[in-house]
Amino acid sequence: MKKALVLYHSLYGNTKAVATSLARGIKEIGIETDCLSIDEVDIQQIPSYDFVAIGSPTHMIRPSKDMKEFLQRLKSLDLRGLTGFAFDTRNHSRMNNRSWLMLENSAARSIEGEMRKMKIKILTPRESAIVEGREGPLDMGVDDRFTEIGRELGRLLASQILPQKFNE
Ligand SMILES: Cc1cc2nc3c(=O)[nH]c(=O)nc-3n(C[C@H](O)[C@H](O)[C@H](O)COP(=O)(O)O)c2cc1C
Repeated sequence: MKKALVLYHSLYGNTKAVATSLARGIKEIGIETDCLSIDEVDIQQIPSYDFVAIGSPTHMIRPSKDMKEFLQRLKSLDLRGLTGFAFDTRNHSRMNNRSWLMLENSAARSIEGEMRKMKIKILTPRESAIVEGREGPLDMGVDDRFTEIGRELGRLLASQILPQKFNE
């Protein structure tokens, strides 16, 4: 039986809410799913999962400091057999409408890059949820959208389809 893990860091609760929606969708497909903050997870257990989703608030166009430190710690593990997905919360920004490549306002972009370096296969491209200001609330429809993304990830995980174009 496949096992999925959704990991998040959250200051004001918005990224936690998105992680919860994502985990709900994956569970609906019948996959055993844990949803944990990076402060409570035992990192030695991570290699025992088939799939890991990692989400962070966007701080200064990158993941939060806690998430950056956590990603460094993950590098001590061998996660080559896992599949994954990156997500973030952020404010609406004009930067996301431009092709500033290295300056994209998205924690998920960095997280996805780090996951690739760890040889985690990205199941489906990163996604962002928009929040208002620093504390939220989340945009309307985020809960439904991330639950659906979770279902899609769950289906891919269940069928083991790995889209090669995101992993070349
Ligand atoms: C110190 C700090 C820096 C932030 N920098 C950015 C930023 O560069 N781009 C952005 O879109 N939002 C930025 N934000 C807004 C956060 O993305 C927002 O607070 C977060 O998505 C809320 O998620 P949380 O409730 O899980 O903490 C920043 C917030 C804080 C507290």
